[in-house]
Amino acid sequence: MTQPKTKVRVGAAARRVKALAPLLLALAPAAAPARPTPTLSGVWIFPPSEEFPGLRMMRLTQGADGWQGTITSDWYGDLPVQAVRVRGGEATFLVDNGNPRLPPRRWTLSLEGVNVHVVGDIWHRHVDVRVRHGTAADAQRLTFPAAQLPQAAILKPDGLAATPPMGWSSWNRFGAAIDDKTVREIADHLVSSGLRDAGYRFVNIDDGWQGTRGPDGAIRPNARFPDMKALADYVHAKGLKLGIYSSPGPKTCAGFTGSYGHVEQDARTFAQWGVDYLKYDLCSGEGIYRTAAEVKLAYQEMGQALRATGRGIIYSLCQYGRDRVGSWGRDVGGHLWRTTGDIEDNYAAMAAIGFDRNGDPADAGPGGWNDPDMLEVGNGGMSDDEYRTHMTLWAIEAAPLMLGNDIRTMSPATIALLENRNVIAIDQDPLGKQGRRVRKDEDAEIWTKPLADGSVAVALFNRGSSAREIRLMPADVALPRVASLIDLWAGVPDNPDRRSWTVPAHGAVLVRLSGEKLSRP
Ligand code: GLA
Repeated sequence: MTQPKTKVRVGAAARRVKALAPLLLALAPAAAPARPTPTLSGVWIFPPSEEFPGLRMMRLTQGADGWQGTITSDWYGDLPVQAVRVRGGEATFLVDNGNPRLPPRRWTLSLEGVNVHVVGDIWHRHVDVRVRHGTAADAQRLTFPAAQLPQAAILKPDGLAATPPMGWSSWNRFGAAIDDKTVREIADHLVSSGLRDAGYRFVNIDDGWQGTRGPDGAIRPNARFPDMKALADYVHAKGLKLGIYSSPGPKTCAGFTGSYGHVEQDARTFAQWGVDYLKYDLCSGEGIYRTAAEVKLAYQEMGQALRATGRGIIYSLCQYGRDRVGSWGRDVGGHLWRTTGDIEDNYAAMAAIGFDRNGDPADAGPGGWNDPDMLEVGNGGMSDDEYRTHMTLWAIEAAPLMLGNDIRTMSPATIALLENRNVIAIDQDPLGKQGRRVRKDEDAEIWTKPLADGSVAVALFNRGSSAREIRLMPADVALPRVASLIDLWAGVPDNPDRRSWTVPAHGAVLVRLSGEKLSRP
């Protein structure tokens, strides 16, 4: 059951606009008459543009509390303008698009006859444009649809994602240039390469599949995806599952149509197509859902909509690890949640995420997983040792394993890294504990992960740029009596008494130790 929706618009900006609406409409002239005293107040109309951020109109008014206003755009709805200062025919204000990494940006306005010259910045776009006075009818036509959010609720676990989801995603290798043919070929190769049988089951279409909405409001794929249902059938016939991507915002990160205002309808459409996995990416929603509570409700809204379809759909939250998402991801129906911004195919970026931005292990376990982002193994930007570190980190962290490469053209070295069943078994261990760093010694790091059968996975990482010896200390592992030691990458048993390894630059060793604890609790 979905919760009844609150009937209020979201956010301070929206509330302010609502309060201002009658005044603004009164201020907007029926036509655009010559004004005896030029003024900045009123409704200002931007020339139509499909380009980010799709500026529509600006509303400014002077009230008892000074100047207030909003800038309305296709990406962000009504953004409040802040700290407005007006002097004669000139004004400045700040615009904050809700991204915590960017400070609010300064905009300047100057009256030029009957128009206003607007200069400012938003996200990474510079705006320099002339706008015209609008009418009440313009304001009504360009008004952004109000967001409604459900009342807070906690969704019960649904039993999915008992172990971290595994599969392939289009984004890291193909970006938005993804199509039906490529997805089918990837499905074929997941089977023929053995990757499916090694556990990689999801074929996830990331951003770039969306077209426009039909007259009934239903989202339609773009021309590169002629028939989503047929594609899902094809993928299912191979023993695989299909994943798709959307955003709680009006626009996705690559500028495609998001689910804003159509959340339940989109969930139903995805279920009808036969979708098994949804990645829901905040993107432009950060300008609309401006508090942690609103972002959480926006994710809850889709979580409830997916549940209401009755289809078991894995729900992947992507809001870059903000607002301690691991502490509430499960409550909104999430099975995995990103802990970080985007990975890149280089050692520095991968290591920064894998070693330090992988989420709190206490949040992870069967049903809900920290997601340090998709794999870059095989994309060419790292050495084999660096990719081995990448896989070892993701496995010991019980991270979702989403292949990010073109599996149609893999080298034997890439296949060996991705298909090693001993390593995958560490990631997929049913106990579902996320491994932790137990010791750091300059460039050396020792991580451990307890496993369901009482054994322990131990990873030794060398973050330095030359090979070095790394020793395992008795205190590192709660198994003083080691009966067996398996080198997981080599796939061979090693001497149970071995405690020292030479680890290559940026490389890793992964072993599985079993034995007896000296004292049992
Ligand atoms: C964001 C996400 C990426 C990818 C792109 C698609 O950047 O973090 O993983 O989905 O959007 O536009």
